[in-house]
Amino acid sequence: MTADPPVHLASASDAADVAEMSRELIEHGLPWSWRPSRVARAIASPETNVAVVRTQGRLVAFGIMEYLEEDAHLVLFAVHPSSQRRGVGSAVLRWLEESARAAGTARVRLEARWDNVAARSFYNEHGYRELVIKSRMYSGVSDGVRMEKWLRIAPER
Ligand SMILES: CC(C)(COP(=O)(O)OP(=O)(O)OC[C@H]1O[C@@H](n2cnc3c(N)ncnc32)[C@H](O)[C@@H]1OP(=O)(O)O)[C@@H](O)C(=O)NCCC(=O)NCCS
Repeated sequence: MTADPPVHLASASDAADVAEMSRELIEHGLPWSWRPSRVARAIASPETNVAVVRTQGRLVAFGIMEYLEEDAHLVLFAVHPSSQRRGVGSAVLRWLEESARAAGTARVRLEARWDNVAARSFYNEHGYRELVIKSRMYSGVSDGVRMEKWLRIAPER
């Protein structure tokens, strides 16, 4: 078993690399909405955690989580293709979930493209359940699936 890679809070100098990775791995085929200035605002925001993994100076993975009232929203998440399937994504997700738990978050929500089998399998593996499939959720182009995970026991409905 290999040790988890070190996960850090991003600093302003990470913004350009995070934005570029988002454009390539997440927003491909869609308008590029997470440009460096938007990522920089997220890094600076007290309501958002931007986590990064760097190896030898190169950005390997990142995750952006926004804190709402009781919920947190996992907004963007990616691992560089050369580092996938080595547990890096799992380490970043655990780090973000632990931070959210410490902040009192009850539930994490996220959306993924419906045809993103890797992401859906990854989140399922981490205890996220699929809630609903939304047609043309991504800029009217791709269908999406909403997912959630309770970090505390869910209230009775
Ligand atoms: C989804 C993603 C973040 C997973 O990161 P990762 O570091 O490769 O994930 P891990 O190595 O921690 O995988 C943990 C488990 O998730 C599942 N999983 C991960 N990638 C998978 C894939 N391509 N196909 C099927 N299952 C997968 C597996 O169960 C895996 O365990 P295993 O390798 O022992 O079988 C990565 O594929 C990625 O960055 N994709 C492009 C961007 C993206 O889709 N982001 C998420 C939507 S915003």
